[in-house]
Formats: sequence, C-alpha cells, structure tokens
Amino acid sequence: YSNKDYNGKTVLVTAGPTQEEIDPVRYISNHSSGKMGYAIAEAARNRGAEVILVTGPVALIPPRYVQIINVTSNADMYNAVMDVYDRCDIIIKAAAVADYKPAEAFKHKIKKTDEDLNLSLKKNIDILKELGKIKGSKILVGFAAETDDLINNAKTKIEKKNLDMIVANDVTVEGSGFKADENLASIIKRDGEILSLNKMSKSELAHKILDIVKTIN
Ligand code: PMT
Repeated sequence: YSNKDYNGKTVLVTAGPTQEEIDPVRYISNHSSGKMGYAIAEAARNRGAEVILVTGPVALIPPRYVQIINVTSNADMYNAVMDVYDRCDIIIKAAAVADYKPAEAFKHKIKKTDEDLNLSLKKNIDILKELGKIKGSKILVGFAAETDDLINNAKTKIEKKNLDMIVANDVTVEGSGFKADENLASIIKRDGEILSLNKMSKSELAHKILDIVKTIN
C-alpha cells in the first residue's frame, strides 16, 4: 500500500471474542474469529500507522510489525485497552466482547449430577462505553453486531457509548459477519450520515473504515 496516510498515527484495534471462565475446563464465548479486527490492524499498518492489536483467543497468524497484546476475558481486555489508551489517536473496537460472565468462576471442574444446573451470570464491563466517557479528542469507532433493526440499534450505540462512528453489520446475512471472509456493513457517523456498503472482503471494508475515519476531525 503506497499511500501512507496514517503515518504518525497510533491506532488501537481490538479483535476476536473474549472467553469467560465457568470452571477450569469450560467457558462462555461467541463465534468471533478475529478476521475483521486483524484486517483492520493490517490495513492501518500498511497505511503507515503504529498499530496495537488487543486480541482475544483466535486461530489467526498475528500480523507482523504490529504490537500484539493477547487477552482472554473481558476483564483482561479492559485492562489491556486502558493500559495503552493514552498512546492512541484512534480506537477501533471490532472485538466481540462477552456482555456477561459467570457470577462465580469455580476453582474445580463442576461435577455432573442427575440434576439440571443453573448458571448465574453477572454483567461485564462495557469497555467501549468506558472509553466513550474519557474520549477527549480521540476518535472512537465501534462495531454493532445486530440481528434486527440494524440502523436504529447501531445509532443508539453511537449515543450511549459516545462514538464518532459505528460499523453496523447484520450478522444474520449468509457469508457475512462472524467467521466469514466477507462482511456486509453500513457505516454510520455521529452526525447521522449513513453509508450502506456492498458485501466486500474484510480487508476492503477495513480500508473503507480507515478512509471514513480520516474524514472525522
Ligand atoms: O471476528 P470475525 O469472525 O471476523 O467477526 C467480525 C464481527 C462480527 C465480530 C465484527 O464485525 C463485529 O461486529 N464486532 C462487534 C461485535 C459486538 O460485540 O457487537 P455489540 O453490538 O455486542 O457491541 C457493540 C460494541 O461495543 C462493539 O464495538 C464491542 O467491541 C463493544 N463492547 C461490547 C460489549 C462490551 N462488554 N464491551 C465492549 O467494548
């Protein structure tokens, strides 16, 4: 990529799922593969940015010349993001963070009995919302994974989390969203402008996101 339009910028990207421990052998998680976030990290690096990638557990090869911080749980991701936040100009949160965790992480493997088992869940920290509170002049980009009322739900997230823009993907579309190599998304800016994009590779979408981030000041 010859256009180094991100020279001098530090971009923080989060990618992948988080895993919330139930006991030493089990966890709660989701279908995120990390492909979307990794594509953004690579695109930003290719455009000259210094990139910090905070990643949940995924099966991808880490991009070169990017600072990688491996995390497992929501709490780990929160701590990692807060540690590096000060150094960053732009934060792009493609990670699929677990909203709940088991109220108690059992120290020993839960034994099977003849009874049903109820698991009590506790709310996790909304990392993006916390970032929104301390945003200052930084550019904050969220993702919204929706199964219905895509645009309205995404717009609500812009306001609630104090974002500059959000990438809304309808994760019910076949061959798009979680795990897929392509994504169908709409990008919504804080001022309400909506860009409805065609389905494209996650790498192409990553570049589109970076193009639009540049129009925010
Ligand atoms: O990883 P892939 O397989 O490539 O799939 C890509 C993707 C579908 C995971 C990605 O495109 C995507 O949509 N990521 C966001 C998924 C998500 O958690 O959406 P959400 O609507 O639940 O959350 C909204 C935003 O808040 C997200 O930016 C999320 O990172 C953030 N969040 C959510 C919950 C939480 N506790 N903390 C957060 O920071």
